[in-house]
Amino acid sequence: MKLPFLLALAILVAALAVVAVSNTIVQRQIAYAQSADENALDPNSVGILAAAEAPTGFDNQTNGFTDQTTFLADRAAFDQTENITDGLGPVYNAQSCRECHQNPTSGAISQVRELRAGHLDGSGNFVGATVTLHNSSGTPVVIANRSLINQRAICPGVDLAQGFNFPNDFAQERISTAETIVTPRTSLNVLGDGFLEAIANGTITNLATTQCNQTGGAICGLAISVPVLEAPGQTRIGRFGWKNQMSSLLSFSSDAYLNEMGITNRLNPNEVTTLCDIIADPEDKTGTDGLQDIDHFSRFMRATKAPPRDATLVNNPDVLTGQQLFHQVGCDICHVSSLTTAPPGTVINGGAFTVPAALGNKTIHPFSDLLLHDVGTGDNIVQNGGPDSGHRMRTPPLWGVRMRNELMHDGRSTTFFDSILRHGGAATPVTNNFRSLSDADKNRLIKFLLSL
Ligand code: HEC
Ligand code: HEC
Repeated sequence: MKLPFLLALAILVAALAVVAVSNTIVQRQIAYAQSADENALDPNSVGILAAAEAPTGFDNQTNGFTDQTTFLADRAAFDQTENITDGLGPVYNAQSCRECHQNPTSGAISQVRELRAGHLDGSGNFVGATVTLHNSSGTPVVIANRSLINQRAICPGVDLAQGFNFPNDFAQERISTAETIVTPRTSLNVLGDGFLEAIANGTITNLATTQCNQTGGAICGLAISVPVLEAPGQTRIGRFGWKNQMSSLLSFSSDAYLNEMGITNRLNPNEVTTLCDIIADPEDKTGTDGLQDIDHFSRFMRATKAPPRDATLVNNPDVLTGQQLFHQVGCDICHVSSLTTAPPGTVINGGAFTVPAALGNKTIHPFSDLLLHDVGTGDNIVQNGGPDSGHRMRTPPLWGVRMRNELMHDGRSTTFFDSILRHGGAATPVTNNFRSLSDADKNRLIKFLLSL
């Protein structure tokens, strides 16, 4: 009799456990349904319901956020070359988003580097560069104070009213020797950025706390709150750009359209300079579908798949060992291998966007904590982050990093080996762990990076 009794008891306990677990899941689902706002979400519950792997691919296919026809139309907007009649300039860097985001498909990275500059004022605060143009008498005319220096300009004619006589003068932006902080900035990948946008604020701040506790305060990434342009007065944890200067893809699209291409839009209606500004502002017009270009850019980016692993390397024995070494030496304290997006229905971007099914509750492998760290390479530029962010850079996501041959924010590392050895500051103990690996193991870790 004893055995059947025990068996029955075991079955009862198991049944109760199943009920308890399914109750928890039901409660979690209810909790999700109730915490529509990302800031009300319990970050510890994110991903507790089996999250699906996010789709990956350099294949120009939608991730499901839009249908394929819409995806291709939005990509065409991202790829489109703008001209003066479309509002290009007066000062700009390139004529389409794709020019700087295309290796190997639209949305990926590129070899393009930009110029940022500025100086410290008497109180030690960062001030963007005093950007000038020169008129025919050689007099510098100040047009803006900002850290981005545009490298190209349109200036098609004469603007005598402002003392400019083209073609003798041209609107080339210049800075002076007063700008003691000068740095190149490489372009970034935007493929899979819809998943990064769908990461709840709490997931990022939780990472910062956990990382700091687990390393005894040695590695403490900084999360910054930045304005959401489409939700006036609202802020969100920044996650885009080398300084985490933006938190939403619509905000970034608006900023890039103005600052990279000189095209004013509803969220950035004013030109950098009125010189040679011949098209009425804002230049980004509503199309027959009711959308503006910045809406197409952000919808394209949200619909992109994340960068895929290299299919030939992903199961290579050296790569698999390299992945273990990456963890063992501590690279993944910052280059975090897996994150889970907020559940579908979560309201993000200060109320302006709701996480859709295609982007919600997805496991992604960006190899980043999306936090700002001082690894001894900081460029001293401050963008939305306050004085403490000057010497910090965002941990760049390493997904798709095999498509880059000029690494780090300044592109000054041409090998993975060099980029690793440049990590000082908070990363010093990790870099030392890497240094003490055998040459064969160093090569395995680097081979793992080449598979990302
Ligand atoms: C002249 C080159 C250039 C052009 C044109 C350009 N970008 Fe970029 N983009 C960059 C650079 C450089 C960065 C890194 C900026 C930084 O943080 O300093 C970047 C970063 C980004 C990011 C952040 C990616 C991330 O994951 O952090 C987004 C999003 C983006 N660009 C979207 C766009 C869109 C949309 C357009 C077209 C309106 C555009 N870009 C046009 C060079 C360019
Ligand atoms: C303390 C956090 C931290 C740790 C630990 C860390 N990194 Fe980084 N990593 C960063 C930051 C921040 C940058 C950007 C630095 C810059 O651009 O100036 C970076 C940049 C990189 C880049 C360049 C990526 C690109 O797109 O240009 C690679 C590659 C890289 N890290 C690999 C590693 C490896 C391998 C390890 C372990 C040996 C490691 N990192 C450890 C924070 C970290």
